[in-house]
Amino acid sequence: MSNPTWAQLTNLGVAVLFILSLKALSSPKTARLGTIVGAAGAVIATVILFFTGIELDNLAVIIAMIVIGSVIGAVSARRVKMTAMPQMVALFNGVGGGAAGLIAVVEFLHAKDDATALFWIFTVVTVIIGSVAFSGSIVTYLKLQELMTTRPVVIPAGKWVTILVAAALVVFAIWGIIDPQFWIILILLALSLIFGVLFVLPVGGADVPIVISLLNALTGLAVAASGYVLDNVLLLIAGTLVGASGTLLTTMMAKAMGRPLTATLFGAFSGTTAGSAGPGSDRPVRSSSPQDVAIMLGYADKVILVPGYGLAVAQAQSTLRELADLLAERGIDVDYAIHPVAGRMPGHMNVLLAEANVPYEQLKEMDEINPEFSATDVVLVVGANDVVNPAARTDQSAPIYGMPILDVDTAGQVVFLKRSMRPGFAGIENELLFDPKTTLLFGDAKESLTKVVASLKAL
Ligand code: TAP
Repeated sequence: MSNPTWAQLTNLGVAVLFILSLKALSSPKTARLGTIVGAAGAVIATVILFFTGIELDNLAVIIAMIVIGSVIGAVSARRVKMTAMPQMVALFNGVGGGAAGLIAVVEFLHAKDDATALFWIFTVVTVIIGSVAFSGSIVTYLKLQELMTTRPVVIPAGKWVTILVAAALVVFAIWGIIDPQFWIILILLALSLIFGVLFVLPVGGADVPIVISLLNALTGLAVAASGYVLDNVLLLIAGTLVGASGTLLTTMMAKAMGRPLTATLFGAFSGTTAGSAGPGSDRPVRSSSPQDVAIMLGYADKVILVPGYGLAVAQAQSTLRELADLLAERGIDVDYAIHPVAGRMPGHMNVLLAEANVPYEQLKEMDEINPEFSATDVVLVVGANDVVNPAARTDQSAPIYGMPILDVDTAGQVVFLKRSMRPGFAGIENELLFDPKTTLLFGDAKESLTKVVASLKAL
């Protein structure tokens, strides 16, 4: 089937929209626009399909499914809490991979007798990658939603079972390409689904979001391959963009956590995965009142604010900004220190603070702010833990060992706002909480900040 010229030109325009969207997504200032541009491209790409003269069977079913899918997507995207975004991405990504895999199965049934070897290769590849991305994403969703344990799950002889399934996949894939038969495609489908589960089960704790990004890249590749199967250039382009950007994001996240990707994926087999159990602690700490914290901050010359996952949970971003504004009004030098993996997804803190209209210029990345901590009077850590834990530097047995951290421990005084002595995502104790220069203000971050702001106004 060949597209009319006008449709090909429109597709070219849509491809440009996708690229512009990615570009805009790379900065918090333009990210919202980027989402709209990308979505507009996807809508145009879908709508023109109906006018290109392609024979569409089951038109009513197709339209009904588009409506149902759009309503489910829009409602769940509006309702999802910011902190639950990673599992939402996992779920939507899985659906994308599953769709690509199923399309390849259907196309197999529609294949012409004179189909080329390349067609069979791409069909088999789409089935495999799409199904792995589907089942893997569903397991990551279950982990992040805590519907199953978030810890690495190592089944007996898991490594060997995984290798066996992978080997069987290769054998059936080659067989399916040389002698395409439907039963082989069904076996490939089943083996790939099993492989996706085996692949993700041993990944645990802090590594799960990296795997989501990797599965996202895989879905992109599956979609690109399905573009070849369906003879659709736009799918090829869009899939390649997702595959490439997903791969970059995966490696950048692994780097930010100071762990090679192989340790993330296969760590559980060798016992080096992040996210071990969290110890409780009865050791004494210094806790304080909102008034005392307000005095500490109000009479400082330089304050750095360190936001973390707890800020997102408490939705305290606007109150934090109010505090920063009050301090600035008192002539105090205030900055926000942004760690690349603070929160639960890339750019989490940037997006959160942008929501509270914190000027982007006030956000300082880790490398830029780290030399400044030693000249800082007070660091206020709001709902962050792992990203300021010195164990990453000193304790070789810690799951976060090697992860670059914010050098908060070099500052004059440190104040932590958190609700309890529970550890952060990686599940390990933070020595800094017990340091003599550390003060803890227990409570929900929003409530604590509101009280500190009130006390500061009364100073
Ligand atoms: P965490 O280490 O998870 O610490 C969050 C802290 O917030 C906890 O100490 C928790 O203590 C506190 N908290 C939770 N709810 C709160 C509330 N309502 N009010 C006040 N405090 C609250 O967070 P982090 O420092 O931002 O580190 C992020 C972690 O996620 C790292 O381990 C990182 O590797 C992992 N991770 C992030 C990403 C990305 S891309 N961002 C990707 C993969 C993994 P209480 O329970 O005592 O309040």
